[in-house]
Amino acid sequence: MDKKKILILGASGFVGNAIYKELCSYFDTYGTYYSNRSFAKNKQFVRYDLEEDDIFQILEHIKPDIIISSLRGNFPAQIQAHHHLMEYLMKTKTKLYFISSANVFDAYSKFPSYEHDKTLSLSVYGRLKIKIENMMMRLPKEKTAILRVPMVFGNTSPRIKEIKENIANKEPIEVFPNLIINVTNDDRLTQQIHYLINRNKTGIYHLGSSDLIQHEEFIKEVIEHLGNYHPIYKRVYTTNEDRYLAALPKANMLPKNLRVSCQEIIDHHLPV
Ligand SMILES: NC(=O)c1ccc[n+]([C@@H]2O[C@H](COP(=O)([O-])OP(=O)(O)OC[C@H]3O[C@@H](n4cnc5c(N)ncnc54)[C@H](OP(=O)(O)O)[C@@H]3O)[C@@H](O)[C@H]2O)c1
Repeated sequence: MDKKKILILGASGFVGNAIYKELCSYFDTYGTYYSNRSFAKNKQFVRYDLEEDDIFQILEHIKPDIIISSLRGNFPAQIQAHHHLMEYLMKTKTKLYFISSANVFDAYSKFPSYEHDKTLSLSVYGRLKIKIENMMMRLPKEKTAILRVPMVFGNTSPRIKEIKENIANKEPIEVFPNLIINVTNDDRLTQQIHYLINRNKTGIYHLGSSDLIQHEEFIKEVIEHLGNYHPIYKRVYTTNEDRYLAALPKANMLPKNLRVSCQEIIDHHLPV
């Protein structure tokens, strides 16, 4: 059977590596790393520096059917690299899955956002994601998938690692009492992406929990799951009113068994 060839840009990172692990047994999967040399000897990995290297060379060497972009790095260089990706998509049958963020809606604080809502951001990070999304929207719809993702948790996530370190060092843990969010974790996110690839899905997907929770409540419940800890909380108020940072699914719902709730994400965290 002809296996699909998948190239994950940023496969040494938290999200990219979780995707790599989920897909590598089913597809001919490749990945890029930048500074994390532990991947240097892995034959499926190539080094890629988006500020120095031409992505075209890697693409022409691997010839992927699907590219998954899960990069961080210098913003202008990310835009340039994605420009090149668009050119490659135009002349091949390759599809691009882009890990975007709920931050593309961070200028709308009074309500959550859905797939076809207009994007607007007040942050440099949100604007970067919007720029890349807009480039993708100019291509034929069957060539791209925009995957908007909220904060990603999970036992090995940098966010949970930081909380554990703060607890161990008796340092305060920041919570945002009037921030209302949706959330996900690495396991559920990567299962959802696997499903989208299997079904050849393209378009815009909001890959977070179907419900909402206050940031403070969420973090406190996760910490209860980690053990009998009583950390100091630093409550950060950015506004007086409740503020939403949530991209909820509505138009492109996933099957029930792949949806997730905030409570499931909380329960998934295991004691240290
Ligand atoms: N984590 C979240 O909660 C979250 C939420 C929403 C969206 N996202 C999006 O998911 C994507 C991945 O985020 P992440 O949390 O997995 O970040 P991460 O762990 O920092 O991974 C970033 C990846 O980009 C690579 N990279 C960094 N600088 C590079 C450069 N100059 N050239 C080439 N590659 C470079 C890193 O390689 P090395 O590690 O080898 O240096 C790594 O593979 C990002 O686009 C982010 O916006 C993440």
